[in-house]
Amino acid sequence: MSDDIRKGLVGVVADQTAISKVNPETNSLLYRGYPVQELAATQPFEAVAYLLWNGELPTPEQAATQAAEGRRYRALAPEVKAAIDQLPLDGHPMDEVRTAVSVIGSLDLAGETSVLEAVGTVEQNKARSLRLFAALPAIVAYGQRRRRGLDAVPPREDLGYSANFLWMTFGEEAPDVVVDAFNRSMILYAEHSFNASTFTARVITSTLSDLYSAVVGAIGALKGPLHGGANEAVLHIFDEIGTAENVVPWLDQALAEKRKIMGFGHRVYKRGDSRVPTMKAALDTLIEYYDRPDVAALYDTLEAQFVARKGIYPNLDYPSGPAYNLLGFDTLTFTPLFVASRVTGWTAHILEQQASNALIRPLSAYNGVAERHIDGYVADT
Ligand code: CMC
Repeated sequence: MSDDIRKGLVGVVADQTAISKVNPETNSLLYRGYPVQELAATQPFEAVAYLLWNGELPTPEQAATQAAEGRRYRALAPEVKAAIDQLPLDGHPMDEVRTAVSVIGSLDLAGETSVLEAVGTVEQNKARSLRLFAALPAIVAYGQRRRRGLDAVPPREDLGYSANFLWMTFGEEAPDVVVDAFNRSMILYAEHSFNASTFTARVITSTLSDLYSAVVGAIGALKGPLHGGANEAVLHIFDEIGTAENVVPWLDQALAEKRKIMGFGHRVYKRGDSRVPTMKAALDTLIEYYDRPDVAALYDTLEAQFVARKGIYPNLDYPSGPAYNLLGFDTLTFTPLFVASRVTGWTAHILEQQASNALIRPLSAYNGVAERHIDGYVADT
């Protein structure tokens, strides 16, 4: 392969961004200049969404305006519910979320029949971003409830984003310790520079397509187990292993079969993921709250064994998978939770791409058969 080809775009700097800075040397991640662990410890997720879109944390007035606007979209729209209800109950909830976003886009863009109008203004796209951000919890929550044979729970006006998300999923008010752990996970998942799904959103945006199409494409990219699907895959691994005593024989066999161990490794961080310590602390709080030392033992043993053998460290999905399990989410709901969070980063990047657009269109090196011709073909003269 030619030296010019960077398969997987490894090491390629594709554009500039002012939204987040990933520094693998110092294991740090900044959103608009703020270390993510400081945001996770001090902010509600909705303030971080505002920060990603606008560059600054909101004033109390700005936060109140955003909250009032978002509340218009918190309930599950009947058209969206009807579309979800058409889908098979044994399908993957990521397909529901992808479909629901597509339906919201069709409703919002009704009347804009020309592709030339699709891209929208900055203000329109900020409003669309907020609409998706506000609407996704009801979609994810209903997906889980529908699989359990339960109806949708209407949103609560008096609750913030994270508390309301848990309310709509479980139909009961979560204690502060649980809301805090969930809120931290939402903040940690929100943004991570040019990861595969965000880059997908930017590629779609670069053609001057609309924000909803870009988010639908990003959801498709996130579903894969090498990206967002890994948080679900971690729980499948935990289920396979069972208890801490089984880790060594399980890992011996998995490595002999050259399996990838989900929740470990990262394209950018090679010495540990900057988000893991914050999420691990949230997981520890939940382990204590729910009194589940068995989860801690399995988590710690697998991490210690895998790091010792391969020198590959956990990524964010490793602590967040078991945390979501303890919170009561079904395993299949984990990646949709990632969507509900990352939609903030995606839409911030869509706004940034629109603000200084260049069509994203790389080249390829052809390695197929040499030029050949159809027998008997005579060119028109
Ligand atoms: N388990 C076993 N071996 C691994 C793992 C793993 N989790 N991760 C990397 N390796 C090995 C890999 O087999 C390869 O070995 P060799 O050189 O002998 O062929 C070497 O490490 C390099 O791996 P790679 O896949 O070429 O490296 P990459 O930078 O392309 O991959 C990754 C990054 C995330 C795709 C990979 O580490 C992986 O597949 N991890 C498991 C899936 C996962 O947890 N994904 C979530 C990523 S973080 C959250 C997100 O952004 O969505």
